[in-house]
This record gives sequence, structure tokens and C-alpha cells, in this order.
Amino acid sequence: MKLNNEKREIVFSTEMFVRQKLENDGSGHDWWHIYRVRNLALKIAETEGGDSFTVEMAALLHDIDDWKITGNSEQNQVKNWLNKLGTDEETSGNILEIIEQVSFKGAGVETIPSTPEAKIVQDADRLDAIGAIGIARTFAFGGSKGRLIYNPDIKPENHVDFEAYKKNNGPTINHFYEKLLLLKDRLNTVTARRIAEKRHQFMESFLEEFFREWHENREN
Ligand code: ADP
Ligand code: NI
Repeated sequence: MKLNNEKREIVFSTEMFVRQKLENDGSGHDWWHIYRVRNLALKIAETEGGDSFTVEMAALLHDIDDWKITGNSEQNQVKNWLNKLGTDEETSGNILEIIEQVSFKGAGVETIPSTPEAKIVQDADRLDAIGAIGIARTFAFGGSKGRLIYNPDIKPENHVDFEAYKKNNGPTINHFYEKLLLLKDRLNTVTARRIAEKRHQFMESFLEEFFREWHENREN
């Protein structure tokens, strides 16, 4: 679907807004994460359908108000930005709803998006959480929060609600078992599932090698 000039302007200024906001993020949620998610989302939308303007806007704005970046404070930055742009109520509502539905909220929490656009953006965000890039982002996030790489005494947890997931302070390796390895079976679209296969395999190989080295010269 071709964007008209007005929509193109809106996307462009949103890109500038997000770029400037997340330029210096060191937690794996920097501008380039947004850039990759936007491109993946548009690629998925090409085969799966969905309104490409809504998909692109939601992908660009999906992490702006996220609790992992802003802390836990109440945030309305996306809403304010859309107001400033003057997007109509229905479009703004759709974009805000997608963003609300995208985020992972714990292994035990079902989060199935309600619209094709939300399914696509969630899949794109999840694809960027796995594979080689996912591994890099996860350790960047862990480092930014002062987490250990691994501690054999702390076991992964199955978080039954969002509050428990948010409180989690475990070592970064545990995040693979608490979230990353679960993602391939929680994707919404066939296109994303196909892209996920290689990425998932790569994480499995990484973990196998990590533990092989870990146990190489010791008993635990
Ligand atoms: P979501 O909102 O679905 O979690 P994001 O785009 O905000 O998706 O990115 C989440 C990424 O942040 C994870 O894939 C991981 O790289 C990192 N992350 C989040 N929580 C943790 C954690 N507890 N330990 C390590 N990395 C984490
Ligand atoms: Ni994201």
C-alpha cells in the first residue's frame, strides 16, 4: 500500500522524534532496535496484510513509553506525540492499542494481540529479541541493569504475572529460559515463524556452547 504525502511526513517526523529520544539508550532499546523492528514489521505486513501506515507508526513508537526504559512511572509520551501530529482519533487509538498489546509480560501471561497490525508489530519486536541480535541485546540490557551474566545457584522462573516479571532481577542467562526460547512458539504469523527458525537454532547453539565452556574445567 502506498503512503500519501501527508502520511509520509508523519512517519518521517515520528522517525526523527524516536531517533532523538532513543539515540543514547544502552539497554538494547536504542534507535537501531526500532529501525529493525519497523523494517521487519513492514516486511511481514507485505505478506500478511494489515494497514502499513498503522504498522509503521506503532513499530516506530512501540518502546517510547515502555516500563523497561522509562522506569515504572506513568507515561503518555506517545499519546502526546500523536496529539501534536494531529492524527485522527481512530488512527491514534489503533496505534496506542497496538503498543499496549506488544510487550512481553511474563512466561505465564497470555498476550495475544487482537488486530492483524498488532500481531505483526508484536512478531517483529519478538524477532529482534532472538537470534544473534537478540543475544547481543539481552546482554546489553543485563549489563545496563548491573545483572550477572550467569549464576548457577539462581534458577530461571516461570513468571505468572506481569508484576512478578517486572520485579525479576535474575542473571541474564535466565532470561533465555524465561522468555527468549519461548518466543518461537508464541509468534502470530507464518512469515515471522519462518524467520524465527534460524534465529532460535542459533540461540540453542549459543547456550550449548556457553554451558560446555562453563563446565569444561569445573564440577558445577
Ligand atoms: P518486550 O517489551 O516484548 O520485552 P522489547 O523490545 O522491550 O520487547 O525488548 C525486550 C528485550 O530487552 C529482551 O529481548 C532482552 O533483550 C531485554 N530484556 C528485557 N528484560 C530482560 C531481562 N530481565 N534480562 C535480560 N534482558 C532483558
Ligand atoms: Ni522493542
